[in-house]
Amino acid sequence: MTESLKDFPEPQKGEDLYRYLLERVTNLEDRNTEIREQLRQLEADKRYLETQKVRYEREVRKLKSEIEQMKSPPLVIGTVTDVVDPSRVIVRSSAGPRFLVGLSQNIDVSEIKPGSRCTLNQQSLAIVEILPTNFDAQIYGMELVEAPTERYEDIGGLDQQILEIQEAVELPLTKPELFRRVGIEPPKGVLLYGPPGTGKTLLAKAVAHETEAHFLRVVGSELVQKYIGEGARLVRELFELAQKKSPSIIFIDEIDAIGASRTETNTSGDREVHRTLMQLLAEMDGFENRGDVRIIGATNRIDILDKALLRPGRFDRIIEIPLPDIDGRLSILKIQTVEMNLDPSVDLQEIALRTEGRNGADLRAITMEAGMFAIRSDRDLVTREDLVRAIDKFVDEVERNRGIGTASAMFA
Ligand SMILES: Nc1ncnc2c1ncn2[C@@H]1O[C@H](COP(=O)(O)OP(=O)(O)O)[C@@H](O)[C@H]1O
Ligand SMILES: [Mg+2]
Repeated sequence: MTESLKDFPEPQKGEDLYRYLLERVTNLEDRNTEIREQLRQLEADKRYLETQKVRYEREVRKLKSEIEQMKSPPLVIGTVTDVVDPSRVIVRSSAGPRFLVGLSQNIDVSEIKPGSRCTLNQQSLAIVEILPTNFDAQIYGMELVEAPTERYEDIGGLDQQILEIQEAVELPLTKPELFRRVGIEPPKGVLLYGPPGTGKTLLAKAVAHETEAHFLRVVGSELVQKYIGEGARLVRELFELAQKKSPSIIFIDEIDAIGASRTETNTSGDREVHRTLMQLLAEMDGFENRGDVRIIGATNRIDILDKALLRPGRFDRIIEIPLPDIDGRLSILKIQTVEMNLDPSVDLQEIALRTEGRNGADLRAITMEAGMFAIRSDRDLVTREDLVRAIDKFVDEVERNRGIGTASAMFA
């Protein structure tokens, strides 16, 4: 550039030089803005690529952890049965046996309670994670979504008992103001007891049909057999759910399976049942201020029930469902034969008289058997003869089974 400057003869071409330099400067300025613009552009590109890079890195991390997860072995599900000290816990694996195991450092020991569900490492069985206790009652089949079809009209000979259960269970839910006006606490729980086959389960089903409340049902024997080691937790969750869905009714059928009086025997099975019962008692005591929850219990064996269950404030109303007397049998027979094609020769009063000592379930079996006799002889009508034969056959069978019972008892 300096060279070219020398080329210009200075004095005479001062004008030209000036113009030339001016042009040069303008050119350079233009060039400068152009380059600046380019720089800005490149910087923007760089920023864009950087964010792109971060995004891809994140994606890689995610995919890596996904691969990791795919490769990791499954975890065993267990239930905590006891916390020995902050670093050792006794768990029962879902397969049954119990283990003394350690736990991951990420777990807060205070979170672990007997009954908590947890996941265990397959090899060391160390606790990896505590699972949330939320559960879906529908999975356990506890909540009756579709009401049963039984109605009060389908129950024979228990009018007084139906009235009592309505008073104790339905009235507090539908008309709580009645109780408030009189100033008494409505009964919390109702216990139905009596010999098998007399309609206790039937009655509870009818309540479920007639009530607007949510109906939760659980069978005591299932609590101890099907959900080994989880009975107490299930009871807790059952009550939690009932409260959440209140107004609601909890029906515990065959409550003697968990409510049998606590004996001295100390097998682990007994301890488990005992824990379930303790949880039940605690829940029954605890929920009075927690919304409208009524409990119905049913049992064939009130004699072996733990007295604690029968204390006031738990099952305060105890309703006996006895074997039907002759009038009861008559009304049960009427209900059960309402759809049957009966011959005019049939006098249900007589059948009721002949079925002394039979329960509702027996009567059902008898009327069904009579119907079978009619079908076998190709008749549309069930006759008195059919019914009498059915009763005889039924009595024979009962006798025979009793015989088998004693024979097997002899050899046992
Ligand atoms: N009082 C009754 N009225 C009409 N049917 C009855 C009565 N009691 C029992 N039954 C019949 O017997 C069956 C079994 O009764 P259930 O309620 O299961 O007896 P439990 O008292 O052992 O729970 C019922 O499904 C019903 O068909
Ligand atoms: Mg029953």
